[in-house]
Amino acid sequence: MSTVRFDPARRLRGQVTPPADKSISHRAAILGAMAAEPVRIRNYLDAADTNSTLAAMQQLGALVQVGPDELVLRGTGLRQAAEPDGPIDVGNAGTLMRLLPGWLAGQEDRSYTLDGDASIRRRPVDRIAEPLERMGATIEATDGRLPPFTIHGGRLRSIAYDLPVASAQVKSCVLLAGLMADGATTVVEPAPSRDHTERMLAAAGVTVNRNGRHVAVTNADELVLDEVIVPGDPSSAAFLVAAAVLVPGSRITVRATGTNWTRTGFLRILERMGGVLVGDLEDDPGDDVPPDEPVGDLEVAHGPLVGTVVEADEVPLAIDELPLVALLGCFAEGETVVRGAQELRVKESDRIATVVGGLRGLGADIEATEDGFVVRGVGGPKSLRGGTIASHGDHRLAMLGAIAGLASREGVEVDGMEAADVSYPTFADDVAALLRG
Ligand code: S3P
Repeated sequence: MSTVRFDPARRLRGQVTPPADKSISHRAAILGAMAAEPVRIRNYLDAADTNSTLAAMQQLGALVQVGPDELVLRGTGLRQAAEPDGPIDVGNAGTLMRLLPGWLAGQEDRSYTLDGDASIRRRPVDRIAEPLERMGATIEATDGRLPPFTIHGGRLRSIAYDLPVASAQVKSCVLLAGLMADGATTVVEPAPSRDHTERMLAAAGVTVNRNGRHVAVTNADELVLDEVIVPGDPSSAAFLVAAAVLVPGSRITVRATGTNWTRTGFLRILERMGGVLVGDLEDDPGDDVPPDEPVGDLEVAHGPLVGTVVEADEVPLAIDELPLVALLGCFAEGETVVRGAQELRVKESDRIATVVGGLRGLGADIEATEDGFVVRGVGGPKSLRGGTIASHGDHRLAMLGAIAGLASREGVEVDGMEAADVSYPTFADDVAALLRG
């Protein structure tokens, strides 16, 4: 395990292009493997999570050709996923673990076992098993709800499914299974969540209809997707954005970042807190399902912040950035409250416990609640003392500790910094370049 120290920064300056989007890369690889014709993927994320997905697609019979500027996937077609010899190892990738069963559920008379690392073995899969069983697959999970688990594919029927939690992973899983069911499959979301699956399916020729919180897909013969261009990951960019806002004298440009409105909740929260941010964020397209992903540059500068309240409806739009909202809260004047975010407890770590415990260890005045946290900020730069924080093997916690260090008075040592490789292997290099800028 590597311990890395992040000293208080003088300032961050310059331009940076964040790594490719993890969510979109996972989907591009999975849909590429499902397609019967070759799919070219440009700017596929080269990180531990998305490499697990490529390896899984190869086990299922897809050919992956790695070129200098792009990947080409030659898939098996929608109903011809191969049955691998052994279990599929999803590594640390929750998105792979929850999306892939949607496809596998429709492979009649074939079985697939999925397993992963210690963190994955604590993450529930009953949320996908329930709708997939209703559609006609059989799932056997450890203790009825955990990996390793086995999917026995079947002849699927379409369902209308009310999501009990606002989860893009569960929504995507049901929509993928819906491609192989009879008729139209509908998912009803309690609140909007990232819509990359819907957009990519629309680009692949699937009929995708949205009506408010209802999303429906019609079954398909095959997917036809020539090319996917993956934008920069707004969740990775968020760490750099937070650093620029918190360290006095900073001003940076984050280039070619995804600006899909279902992913920019953090930037909107930051704006509400008084953050200085210039960039074209996508507006909610209503009932349209655009077949592409919007991309743009963001300019961010240091400035004072005030506390804010984040309610349940906003949570899915900023779910992976809520640890950073806690950090911003430490530097904001007044109270910052996040509610309705109990989903944080089943991420790569229990992110309510690890974020609150971690930031408290650095001197923050923060308390956990059942479904979120409350931070009392001092207001002004250098509000946080510093110290040591453990990543708990969670990539976003490792990077949270690093940014806290740059903005702190005494610096922060991050135990387990290598966890960042899951989504952002070049994180330390990008931060170093901005510090030199
Ligand atoms: C993801 C959805 C979110 C998010 C995860 C990626 C996706 O999970 O936290 O990092 O790519 O669909 P949930 O759908 O479980 O909220």
